[in-house]
Amino acid sequence: MTTTARAHTNIALVKYWGKRNAALMLPQTDSLSLTLDEFYTTTTVEFDPTLSKDHFYLDGKLVADQQAHKVVKFMDLVRQMSGRADFANIASVNNVPIAAGLASSASAFAALAGAAAKDAGMDLSLKDLSRLARRGSGSATRSIFGGLVEWHRGTDDLTSFAEPVQEVPKFGIAMLAIMVDTSQKKVSSRGGMQLVVETSPYYPAWRQVVKDDMVAIKKAIATGDLKTIGHIAQQNALRMHALNLAADPGFTYFNGQTILAMQTIDRLREEGLNCYYTMDAGPNVKVIFDPKDQDDLLKALSPVFGAERLVVAKPGPGIEYLADPVMKF
Ligand code: DP6
Repeated sequence: MTTTARAHTNIALVKYWGKRNAALMLPQTDSLSLTLDEFYTTTTVEFDPTLSKDHFYLDGKLVADQQAHKVVKFMDLVRQMSGRADFANIASVNNVPIAAGLASSASAFAALAGAAAKDAGMDLSLKDLSRLARRGSGSATRSIFGGLVEWHRGTDDLTSFAEPVQEVPKFGIAMLAIMVDTSQKKVSSRGGMQLVVETSPYYPAWRQVVKDDMVAIKKAIATGDLKTIGHIAQQNALRMHALNLAADPGFTYFNGQTILAMQTIDRLREEGLNCYYTMDAGPNVKVIFDPKDQDDLLKALSPVFGAERLVVAKPGPGIEYLADPVMKF
């Protein structure tokens, strides 16, 4: 039997940037994100008693064991939880409009959690599925759900899970990615956040920032106040990236084009467009905007970055199960 699941990636408006327990993947703070429709991963899992190890295929190609270790470790956890001892064939296909960049571990581990748990015979609630996805990658916790999603830091493994805030946003919100660089990132999010927790003197302030931002952004979501949501998201991203600059050794994910994109969005907002930026563990910039401004925004950004580097995404759905496998093993 094969099981196929699809999960969409998400972009955090209030960031997760640090763990307090790496083994259980428990975060330092709450976080909140928007699941996107354009970027997703589809994964098929088939447990097979004849296999002597897991086989992981990414976009049709068998992945070497050293590169597949996070997937195998995750499968070990599924075996331990389900009691199903067999190894599995696993195939993942990423849907990204332009090469690399936004195919994040969020959609990857959410889809894997869904397909592996179901194929192993576990019937998990969405809450427990989000706890399981967390063990693969923190941001995957939130990709089980669609729309605006909150991840509770919790007090332990049982209480650290995601929950929808508004599965289908009741107000206009969209995201535009400015793909300034699609090459592999130099500092992984895992390594970057660990260094920050250990060395950034601003970390205690960050915990308080997130506490305050979570309260304020949920209030703004309840009233559909995009201006406040965007403002909070932009400030939160800047403060997350300030942690990196203040780490030892200090580092940044920004390049020159990142700064140019940030300045351009600030200028367009001053000129009257309702748009804000956020950045994650890489140089690409994501713009939060009101869908009614889409044409104006694309018209203003195309001459600066090239139309082919701009990708628009709308709010996307939570985890889905598909009848057809992405690959025949
Ligand atoms: C900047 O979820 O990729 O995107 O938990 O170590 O797998 P691990 O890290 P990951 O980190 C995401 C960090 C972020 C912010 C966010 O998504 O909240």
